[in-house]
Amino acid sequence: MNTEAHRFDPVHLDRLLSPQRQARWAPKDFLSRFDIGAGQRVVDLGCGPGFWTLPLAEKVGAGGTVYALDVSQDMLNALANRQPPETVRLLRSELPAINLPDKSADWLWAAFVLHEVTPLDVQVREMRRVGQRAAILDWRPDAQGEAGPPRAERLWPEEVIKVLKANGFQQASQTWQDDDNYLIEASASA
Ligand SMILES: C[S@@+](CC[C@H](N)C(=O)[O-])C[C@H]1O[C@@H](n2cnc3c(N)ncnc32)[C@H](O)[C@@H]1O
Repeated sequence: MNTEAHRFDPVHLDRLLSPQRQARWAPKDFLSRFDIGAGQRVVDLGCGPGFWTLPLAEKVGAGGTVYALDVSQDMLNALANRQPPETVRLLRSELPAINLPDKSADWLWAAFVLHEVTPLDVQVREMRRVGQRAAILDWRPDAQGEAGPPRAERLWPEEVIKVLKANGFQQASQTWQDDDNYLIEASASA
């Protein structure tokens, strides 16, 4: 299946690191809601130039690992140019495939990427193969604002939760939303 038409164009990668976006998300603060501890292994799916990757690396510390996965070499190069710590491993992989062994992560983070990938059920099974817990941040199809991808490409949170539960994540629920975005957290154990 060709999903390239839905992909974020790396020509615009600076937008992903803009001061406005930093102010909007304050990524370190946003990530503080998750129970990710020192020494853990996390996967940043569709990492882009590392907006979330670097704060994730701070969270897992020197004993942890962040697998920064993206299909775009331009995005991975931009992340490398930001001189991440050695605990960040760059992975070129085309989702839904995750180029990692079974059970190699504690937690998977998918920020603004799942709407760019199909099929969703294959993606979720692949996430479950690699790890036990996941969080998904994405665009509401009924968002108030004009920013973001075309509405027809966005995923309803109810649909994402249904697919997570049908494919190995026993618990999945929406834990946050605002006018434009939502957050879903999922776990393979009850
Ligand atoms: C909108 S950007 C979000 C980047 C980052 N997660 C963030 O929030 O700043 C989506 C990213 O997903 C990547 N991507 C899209 N489709 C992909 C696929 N099939 N496999 C791997 N990466 C993909 C794009 O290259 C891009 O870097």
